[in-house]
Amino acid sequence: MVATKGILSGGVQGAQAAERSLQHDELLGFTRARRTLGKVNRDHDGPAHLGLTVQVHLDVGPYDATTNHRTGRTDEPARSFPTLPVTSGAMSLQGFSALVTGAASGMGEAAARRLAAEGAHVVIVDRDAAKGEAVAKELGGTAAEADVVDEASMRAAFDAAKEVAPLRACIHCAGVGWVERTINRDGSPHMLDTFRKILDINLIGTFNAVRFAASAMNGNEADDNGQRGVIVNTASVAAFDGQIGQLAYSASKGGVVSMTLTAARDLSAAGIRVCTIAPGLVDTPLLGMLPDDARAELGRSVLFPKRLGTADEFASLAMEIVRNPYLNGEVIRLDAGIRMPPK
Ligand SMILES: NC(=O)c1ccc[n+]([C@@H]2O[C@H](COP(=O)([O-])OP(=O)(O)OC[C@H]3O[C@@H](n4cnc5c(N)ncnc54)[C@H](O)[C@@H]3O)[C@@H](O)[C@H]2O)c1
Repeated sequence: MVATKGILSGGVQGAQAAERSLQHDELLGFTRARRTLGKVNRDHDGPAHLGLTVQVHLDVGPYDATTNHRTGRTDEPARSFPTLPVTSGAMSLQGFSALVTGAASGMGEAAARRLAAEGAHVVIVDRDAAKGEAVAKELGGTAAEADVVDEASMRAAFDAAKEVAPLRACIHCAGVGWVERTINRDGSPHMLDTFRKILDINLIGTFNAVRFAASAMNGNEADDNGQRGVIVNTASVAAFDGQIGQLAYSASKGGVVSMTLTAARDLSAAGIRVCTIAPGLVDTPLLGMLPDDARAELGRSVLFPKRLGTADEFASLAMEIVRNPYLNGEVIRLDAGIRMPPK
């Protein structure tokens, strides 16, 4: 490894973090950071929270494999750190249950199919009982009619999952769209009830699923990687690039994005991971209501590939989140690079 020299900028806390990270590197035996130049230069006097810059100059010595950089001794080789294979600690679903909300249609249904193929007993949660039953029957799973905002039916759905086998994965897809501007064309204000309803289904419904899922998973025996379960939520690119008329929808999905890291932190001690997928334009029954030419036009607006996404592309990412133990606290855009214009 060649000698490197870098500057870490930040507030006072940033400087302290840089210091800590150096110590961490030393422990790993990768580098010896000579902190001779580790002085803290205050470009400006003042508290860090005002955004004033503190720079720590790091002069990192060349890597020397014969030296233990933690102790500085040459008669004691540095520890070696084997690279773990990517599959190490991958979460298995064999013999476990997995619950999917909104599983009677679109992305939820696609996720349920993938989970069943991985050997999970799938619990299909949807307020559309007939469609839910049909999917559950096909997959050999259990149908649980529930409205995600409802306490009793959601509790019963999670109980049904636990009854079959420990719950390892929850993929929460149930959600609805809505179009209404902050003020309508005639100047009348956005309806309060519709805003509340969208927040209720998309945000409170997510909270409801997360709390019941976490509580169910908390009772699981941890796997070899310390994991008890994983929760995947569904936001939307509208959380970031809300279009005209998406006030309620983007606010609800923004809430889902914001709760991701907090929930992951809350649940870290229990060995439960939480991630969120923020899809772009996906060809599901939700968009199927649009005429073909309108859907084709939407597809052309995507950066690359110039088409709508598929429900299975969502399911594939959801499965990678379930599988990969190092994915946690993250919101992943699945959008082929699209940035939504104002309308
Ligand atoms: N399709 C897209 O382009 C797109 C883009 C970004 C985000 N999303 C989000 O992805 C998720 C899935 O969307 P989809 O396109 O697969 O839609 P979809 O309409 O095909 O499926 C949604 C399912 O959720 C169920 N559902 C809705 N409200 C419910 C409730 N209160 N309780 C229980 N079940 C309920 C519906 O019955 C339906 O089966 C939604 O949260 C949506 O906001 C979709």
